[in-house]
Amino acid sequence: MKKTILVTGGAGYIGSCVAHLLHTKGYEVIILDKLIYAQKFEHSWAKLIQADFADKDILKKIFTENKIEAVLHFAAFIEVGRSVKDPADFYNNNVVKTLALLEEMQKHKVKNFIFSSSCAVYGTPQKLPLREDHPKKPISPYGNTKLAVEMILEDFANAYGMSFVGLRYFNAAGAIPEEGLGEQHEPETHIIPLLLKAAMQNKEFKIFGTDYSTPDGTCIRDYLHVKDLATAHCKALEYLLNGATSNCFNLGTGTGYSVRELINIVEQVVGTVVKIQECERREGDPAVLVSDASTVHDVLGWKSEFSDLGNIIRDAYEFEVIKS
Ligand SMILES: NC(=O)c1ccc[n+]([C@@H]2O[C@H](COP(=O)([O-])OP(=O)(O)OC[C@H]3O[C@@H](n4cnc5c(N)ncnc54)[C@H](O)[C@@H]3O)[C@@H](O)[C@H]2O)c1
Repeated sequence: MKKTILVTGGAGYIGSCVAHLLHTKGYEVIILDKLIYAQKFEHSWAKLIQADFADKDILKKIFTENKIEAVLHFAAFIEVGRSVKDPADFYNNNVVKTLALLEEMQKHKVKNFIFSSSCAVYGTPQKLPLREDHPKKPISPYGNTKLAVEMILEDFANAYGMSFVGLRYFNAAGAIPEEGLGEQHEPETHIIPLLLKAAMQNKEFKIFGTDYSTPDGTCIRDYLHVKDLATAHCKALEYLLNGATSNCFNLGTGTGYSVRELINIVEQVVGTVVKIQECERREGDPAVLVSDASTVHDVLGWKSEFSDLGNIIRDAYEFEVIKS
């Protein structure tokens, strides 16, 4: 019999890509998503329930009518800048509601949980590449919400026997254009879709900071293809279903690229020159964020396959072309 998985936020960017892979691997997928950006989700491979992920009545119905093997929790507010201006909204959606979801899982004896955490839990790197045991000192309310949920999960695992995997994503990127799945945030804050839009619409792209102590002066980040993120979630799910120990893992490639390197590849892929505006650094942007991804490799047997930067940008571009 097919195993049924509940995916919160499965109509969003990463959740939809993971949900699709789960479907192709033979899982029954139920998506619980409020469609807060009024986005369309028209895919027949998953059942969509449009509701808040902390709605107790809806959760009760889902958990009593289905044997849910695991909950994959993607739903959250994600814009770091907005979290600074409106922390209450972020703590409510990302922490308080997650606690409510976990309590409902407890009530209905649903034990396995995979959480979309973030490298934002580390704050400013003291040592690179970032290992999982690096001190956790988030520098934004968004990062605080991710760390708070990780702490709740540890306590739930100790007290109630919950099993969880926290996956600390670095920069999710790329798309699955052939399935119509990709990034469509409103407002968009992520660099690759912003760069592609600038290139395609002949608009200026702002580089925030050109005087960092990196080889070309711009920030370096670790970009992971969303297809690789999806395979890591499937590995984490198998790991939990096989009764393994709760843990948090970095999800990145271990290789960093600068903003100028991204621009070069976007120019090659789109076949145009991107107009650049060099701006001051933004507060709270570390020069380099690169993962040490050896633990997830050793424990889950996962490593990235699709995250060559050219591949990421070609897929993201194809998705932008389909959308426009
Ligand atoms: N995109 C990245 O690079 C990145 C990096 C690190 C961590 N993450 C984490 O990964 C997860 C997914 O990110 P994403 O980029 O796919 O975001 P997204 O905004 O594309 O998707 C989030 C989805 O959650 C839904 N949602 C939010 N609050 C909800 C609620 N209360 N009830 C029901 N649905 C709700 C939204 O409608 C949306 O479809 C988030 O938890 C995010 O913090 C993302």
